[in-house]
Amino acid sequence: MLYMDKTTELILDGKICKLPIIEGTEQERAVDISALRDQTGYITLDDGYGNTGSCRSQITFIDGEKGILRYRGIPIEELAEKSTFIEVAHLIIMGKLPTSAELRHFSDLLTDNELLNEAMKYHFEGFPPNAHPMAILSAMINATSCYHSELLTDQMRDSFVVQAARLLSKVRTIAAFAYRKSRGLPAIYPKPDLKYTANFLHMMFSLPYKDYDLKPETVKALDLIFLLHADHEQNCSTATVRMVASSRANLFASAAAGVCALWGPLHGGANQAVLEMLEDIHKSGDDGSKFIAAAKDKHSGKRLMGFGHRVYKHYDPRAKIIKRACDDVLAKLHINDPLLDIAKHLEEAALRDSYFVERKLYPNVDFYSGIIMRAIGIPVEMFTVMFAIGRMPGWIANYKEVMEAPTRIYRPRQIYTGPTLNHYTPIKERK
Ligand code: ACO
Repeated sequence: MLYMDKTTELILDGKICKLPIIEGTEQERAVDISALRDQTGYITLDDGYGNTGSCRSQITFIDGEKGILRYRGIPIEELAEKSTFIEVAHLIIMGKLPTSAELRHFSDLLTDNELLNEAMKYHFEGFPPNAHPMAILSAMINATSCYHSELLTDQMRDSFVVQAARLLSKVRTIAAFAYRKSRGLPAIYPKPDLKYTANFLHMMFSLPYKDYDLKPETVKALDLIFLLHADHEQNCSTATVRMVASSRANLFASAAAGVCALWGPLHGGANQAVLEMLEDIHKSGDDGSKFIAAAKDKHSGKRLMGFGHRVYKHYDPRAKIIKRACDDVLAKLHINDPLLDIAKHLEEAALRDSYFVERKLYPNVDFYSGIIMRAIGIPVEMFTVMFAIGRMPGWIANYKEVMEAPTRIYRPRQIYTGPTLNHYTPIKERK
């Protein structure tokens, strides 16, 4: 790691305060303000953390202005073309691409951990019909920790690769069971001879009397979606996982919190919202023009879902890859989806429109991923669950970083804007 020893000076109330400058390996620079309050009495205020570096991390590098995304230094484009989700999961969690022996070991661990404790079926039964699978996913990830007592006593008893494989493997079983439960279908158990993504599709779509037809192009497309979502530095859900981890909560509890943060429509829930938006536009007979006009009107309550990103002020590199994959998969599966035409039309119109151009709003990863998932047969309410499975390596790796370099518990400050000193009024005297 390459951190340079420099300082900068800040003048506050006429006093000079010296603050260290931190530089990362990609020359990103930060002013370390951790001593600011002690020296001056001031804190910094950054609504929505748009300009706050909350940690130092070695996992993922993003340059939002240039549209660059790299996992452990390797460009996303190379990984999308040459790798698989599980290889990338190893890269992200363990910090390196696995050797053949390491990959075999990791795959074996995933297989060893694919089953849930049989008693967990009673937990699934407790959910009402049509329960949202994200609610089930989060609750069941947390519930799984109850079946691993070492998580509460000696979490570090097993090597981290074992802990990581346990969560990564069980999450896919929980996700498939959550879907089967939400549709009133019997659970399908995993098959040890199937690889990660194929096994997941088997658990989702096989019937007790008939195995699902695993088409290679379908498996590859979903594996690519998982891979493209595998990490994205300090987004809302990953920052949540780190926040929870900083209190020394266990890996499962921290990941369950990540699922909750991901659920919102401004984050992972956007892939579901995009598809619903495209369906509404299609049903209304609009070619997208009316919707674009509404998305520009702040009073309409509408946004062009799948557009815009806090970090990318250029085309999201994942969206480029997904758009190409979308054309490819639909052609291979001989599917002609009118929603893809609407999406392309919306993109063209938005990229010509000064509202979107001036605000640097480009398609993000969610804009086309839903169309692929629809072609595969994944129901809309499961879209965000796919994102959660894909993001699991990133959450696990970030959890590991927090545990390995324990910082203080994450605890932001605030600027209080409520009433000043006030006294208790007895109930009879209140107006
Ligand atoms: N449609 C219309 N206008 C938009 C959109 C959009 N999708 N996104 C941002 N804007 C506008 C805002 O209204 C604001 O306009 P103003 O400056 O005139 O007030 C300006 O662009 C900046 O937007 P912010 O909300 O301040 O940007 P922020 O960085 O906070 O939000 C976000 C980023 C949440 C992704 C936003 O662009 C959005 O809501 N997009 C749609 C939802 C979405 O696709 N989310 C997925 C994100 S990617 C992911 O989680 C995988």
